[in-house]
Amino acid sequence: TENTIAQPVGTTLERYIMRKQAEFRFATGELSQLLRDIALAGKIVNREVNRAGLTTIIGSMGQQNVQGEAQQKLDVEANIRFIRALTNGGEACAVLSEEEDDIIHTGNAQGKYVVAIDPLDGSSNIDVNISIGTIFSIYRRVSKVGEAATREDFLQGGRRQVAAGYILYGSSTMLVYTTGHGVAGFTYENSLGEFFLSHPNITIPTSGTVFSCNEGYWFDYPQYVRDYLTQCKREGQSGRYVGSLVADYHRNLLTGGIYLYPPTGKNPNGKLRVLYEAFPLAFLIEQAGGRAESGTGSILDIVATEFHQRTPLFVGSPALVERLLGETEVVP
Ligand code: AHG
Ligand code: MN
Ligand code: MN
Ligand code: MN
Repeated sequence: TENTIAQPVGTTLERYIMRKQAEFRFATGELSQLLRDIALAGKIVNREVNRAGLTTIIGSMGQQNVQGEAQQKLDVEANIRFIRALTNGGEACAVLSEEEDDIIHTGNAQGKYVVAIDPLDGSSNIDVNISIGTIFSIYRRVSKVGEAATREDFLQGGRRQVAAGYILYGSSTMLVYTTGHGVAGFTYENSLGEFFLSHPNITIPTSGTVFSCNEGYWFDYPQYVRDYLTQCKREGQSGRYVGSLVADYHRNLLTGGIYLYPPTGKNPNGKLRVLYEAFPLAFLIEQAGGRAESGTGSILDIVATEFHQRTPLFVGSPALVERLLGETEVVP
């Protein structure tokens, strides 16, 4: 998955996409355009996120989403912005969002792609000014171009994703994505309104000394998870948990580490959603040399049958995931 043509740090997202497209003779530019549309929506949401404290965008809507979660105003705002950008961009015939019960048909029946999206990840952190993100997953439609998208378009399985990534609205705003040829990271320059290539080829350290989980659920965790975490603590490893999956994942991607969301009493099948959290982040981590497991197999091998189904998630440095799953000797 080495980049065939390494591009210089500092090149713009636009130039990067154009050069990448030029490498693939058969590329007709639709996926490039789709990535541009996602980046545009990310810029718009970034502006809302940065103003959240000043405008009436914080707080909850006083209604629940299909997940049974209290929808935050910014959840809804981000959802609208991404669906609008994908509708206006013309390349996506349908969108599946965490914030929508069912598929949203964009009206672009000629669009060749569908997008599953978590418009705003880490909603509990919006009002307290902690990093949040957006996660997206792109498939080439299997339904007939010109007709309405179908459930099958979104239930093709994790290994059929053609692209996936996230935007992290953190101390700086970053776009990180893959099209199956490695992972690239772009940092947003607010004053210019541009994403610039800052991490040309992200690979995760094979091991690490960080574990990320909400230990409030300790007494719900399976014994093997508790054994692993106890071993981590014996070794003096660091617990780091922001409570925004994108932020915890991104830190571990760069420094090495493992993020764990095991089954809990409240969420016996795990809390995180397969189609727009686990699948895209699993595609990315494998492209970066890492691993993503559900506890009963590889995330990307999950057979998704429902749009909002959940899974346990153990994702990060391969040596740490292997140790958790007991595939290597745990040093006593
Ligand atoms: P979302 O805000 O998109 O619903 O996702 C929240 C997820 C993830 O971002 C985070 O790591 C996890 O929920 C936090 O869950 P707990 O509060 O149960 O730890
Ligand atoms: Mn989320
Ligand atoms: Mn969300
Ligand atoms: Mn949510």
